[in-house]
Amino acid sequence: MINHEIKISFKEYQSLKELDKPDYDLCLDAVMAMENSHSPYSKFRVGAALRLQSGTIVYGSNQENVAYPSGLCAERVALFHCGAYYPNDPIEAMAVTAWSGKFEILQPVASCGACLQVLAEYEKKQNKPIEIILFTNNGPAWVMTSVESLLPFLFFESRLKS
Ligand code: THU
Repeated sequence: MINHEIKISFKEYQSLKELDKPDYDLCLDAVMAMENSHSPYSKFRVGAALRLQSGTIVYGSNQENVAYPSGLCAERVALFHCGAYYPNDPIEAMAVTAWSGKFEILQPVASCGACLQVLAEYEKKQNKPIEIILFTNNGPAWVMTSVESLLPFLFFESRLKS
């Protein structure tokens, strides 16, 4: 038996003000995106903002449905919008925030596995890592340089071949 260990690293900023200006602005965009969250069932609002290489900002928020599995997370709403509208404009960074009507969120909320898999797809497609900024109101911000920090064993295309 061999015991393996994988280390991931990320940066923690105590306040959004410590971020550089483009990332700070992107966080404000994620807060703005959250305004359009449609989350009457979970009361858990999520906002995502993507900064593209051209400087274009793309917004996403979670969109729930009475048939629960038909809804979609904020990250994928934004990522699929990029894929559909800006297929040749690489994504530089994604900021994500969340707010609950039921309790205070004290730590950043990590994106779900399905969103990470979609993020990985776009990283591979553009052949450039996407910075991820996770943050909460009044809490710290966590910054990862690539989806690989959150999904080290990600499923990628070469696994489909022998
Ligand atoms: N949600 C997101 O928008 N992003 C995630 O990565 C995790 C969860 C949404 C889905 C649902 O509308 C609500 O949060 C509660 O799960």
